[in-house]
Parts: sequence; C-alpha cells; structure tokens
Amino acid sequence: MKICVLPGDGIGPEIMAQAIRVLNALGLKLEMEEALLGGCAVDATGTPYPEATQKLAREADALLLGAVGGPQWDSLPREQRPERGLLGIRKDLGLFANLRPAILYPELANASSLKPEIVSGLDILIVRELTGDIYFGQPRGIEVREVEGTQQRVGWNTMIYAEYEIRRILKVAFEAAQKRGKKLCSVDKMNVLECTQLWRDIAIEVSRDYPDVELSHMLVDNAAMQLVRAPKQFDVMVTGNMFGDILSDEASMLTGSIGMLPSASLDANNKGMYEPSHGSAPDIAGKDLANPLATILSAAMMLRYTFNHEEAAQRVEAAVRKVLAQGFRTGDIYEPGTQKVGTRAMGDAVLAA
Ligand code: NAI
Ligand code: MG
Repeated sequence: MKICVLPGDGIGPEIMAQAIRVLNALGLKLEMEEALLGGCAVDATGTPYPEATQKLAREADALLLGAVGGPQWDSLPREQRPERGLLGIRKDLGLFANLRPAILYPELANASSLKPEIVSGLDILIVRELTGDIYFGQPRGIEVREVEGTQQRVGWNTMIYAEYEIRRILKVAFEAAQKRGKKLCSVDKMNVLECTQLWRDIAIEVSRDYPDVELSHMLVDNAAMQLVRAPKQFDVMVTGNMFGDILSDEASMLTGSIGMLPSASLDANNKGMYEPSHGSAPDIAGKDLANPLATILSAAMMLRYTFNHEEAAQRVEAAVRKVLAQGFRTGDIYEPGTQKVGTRAMGDAVLAA
C-alpha cells in the first residue's frame, strides 16, 4: 500500500499532518512518501508538478493531497500556477471518476441551510465523470458569423461522450452503490440531449451486471430540485461532468461546512487521489485553526476505494463521529455549548477515539 503524500500549500501541511497520524495509528502496512505539488513546488523547482512528483505519483497506489494555491502565486503566468499542478496530475493519472460524499452528521444539523428534519443524517455520494463532456468536447469556440443577416458573435461547445467513457464511470458508480445502500440514481437530460439518451441507454445495459443494485433515472432539473426538497431519498447519484459539477456543489452546501467534506478521484483500477473539497484557506494557514476532518475522511475513502480496507475506513469514520458527539469543534463548525479546539487537538481527539 504505497501512498504519495502531497501536503501542498496554506493549511495543507497542517491538515495532512493530522491525517498521517491517524493513518499511522491503524497498524496497517502503509508506505508513505512525500512530494511537492502546487505553490510549494513552484517555489522549490519553478514548476507546480515537478518530475520527481510525477514519478512518485505514477508509482504510488494512492495519493493523498492537502490543498494547493494561495495569493502569493496568483500573479504567475497560467502555466506556472499551482492549480495547473492539480489539473496536470489528474490528467496524467487518468482520474476520471470523482466521488463526493455529502454527509450531515446529526451533531452538525444546525450548520445546514436546510431544516434539520430534512437533512439530519443525510449520507449521499455523488459520482461525477471528470474528464469528458461539454468541458472538453470539440468543436468549441467563439467567432463572428452572419446570423439572420447581421454579423454577430456566436459561441458553441460540444457535449460528447463515447460509450467507453460512460461505461467506466457507471461501473465505478454501481460498485460504490454495492458498498453502500445499493441504490443508484443516474441523472441525465435525455428529454432534450441525445448525448444523455446514450448515457441512459448504457446505464440500463450496465445495470444488468449489478442485479443487487436498484437503478433509477432522473432528469437533472428535477434532481437539482429533489436535492433540496428531500435529499435523503438518494444513496448514490451518478452523472456527467457538467451536471455533476453543479449537483455536487449543491449537495455539499446541504452539509454546512466545507471543512468536513472529503473527495476521491479514481482511475479504472481504483488508483485514486484523495483530497478535501476545500482549498488552501490562506486566511487561516499556519494558525492551528483549520479543520482536519475533511482530510482525515479523505484518508478513510482511500482505505475503502483503493485499498479495499472497509474495516479500517469505518474505524476512522466512527472515530470522527465520536469526536463530534463528544462536542469537539474547530472554528468552522463551532457553536456555543461545544468545545472549540485547534487543528492538532482535533487530531488528538480522533486518535483517542
Ligand atoms: P478555500 O476553500 O481555501 O477557503 C474558503 C473559506 O473556507 C475560507 O474562509 C477558509 O478559511 C475556509 N476553510 C476552508 N477549508 C477549511 C478548513 N479545513 N477548516 C476551516 N475553514 C476552512 O477557498 P478559497 O478561499 O476560494 O481559495 C483559497 C486558495 O485555495 C486559492 O488559491 C484557491 O485557488 C485554492 N483552492 C485549491 C483547491 C484545491 O487544492 N483542491 C480547491 C479550491 C481552492
Ligand atoms: Mg465546481
């Protein structure tokens, strides 16, 4: 179990330190090696995804990332920006499946923008395709053309998916559903978009290999509505890159704090990069204020999806539940009546639990 550890920038090193302590406490044979990605890599080598990191990333079974970026690198040319390192590594490793759980722990029910009775106990997983769809499809562009007798600017993009791309993301989603509540909702817009009619047809075909998972279909506009009306009806949702971009951000807000949300990006062999959904939080970096739980929960996802170590994943998740039940809170989830702790003390509490 070879892990490439990428602490990154801002709060990255602080939250990563706590996740590593938790991983080390599990008594597993984990081999961890650190590498530079993002702004710290730019400072040390002039490029956000240096060759030494590329080598380690390719050799590793899994990658654990803190976050990259910060204002001190914002004026660099686009090619050298820390975010380029992130896009580069995703592309380099072919990480096409983005898994974003949205979990609302009952103890944090007041942090959601929805009424506690609608969201309390929410536990859904959105599986988003990450490397295709209208974001990458050709042709694309903006140009001046003659339209209805006048010269006007015209803009266009292409929504395109090949069968293999749809099959492989559905396979990831069905397998994730098998490990959870065995319900999969495939989201499309087949009433107006042919590309997503193909998506729906293939979802039905792939479902024959997973008779233990109940497949349903929903149009994306209805799915957006249902996520705020009755989000607990869902277990796993799977959709394309653009719909997934929007729905996963919508779902993340149901849970209150960005400091709690892990994510995974997987390839076809369950090699994956695991990272919190938040950024490098430069405003609180170096102050022992950041919530390390999203990173610790990302490490739990790594144990589950890459290393198939469900028991260890559940131990970590149970420890996180316990510290919340005990009342430990970092600033982002603090409420009167709970105990405010820093990054390291939160790590201590998870270790103790
Ligand atoms: P951000 O997620 O870093 O911060 C947004 C707000 O949430 C801030 O007030 C921050 O203090 C707070 N926050 C974030 N994570 C937290 C945590 N674990 N505990 C407590 N509070 C937390 O987003 P922002 O400010 O838009 O971006 C800051 C930098 O991060 C930028 O350079 C951006 O490009 C980069 N970024 C990197 C990402 C990545 O590495 N995957 C993703 C998003 C942004
Ligand atoms: Mg987005």
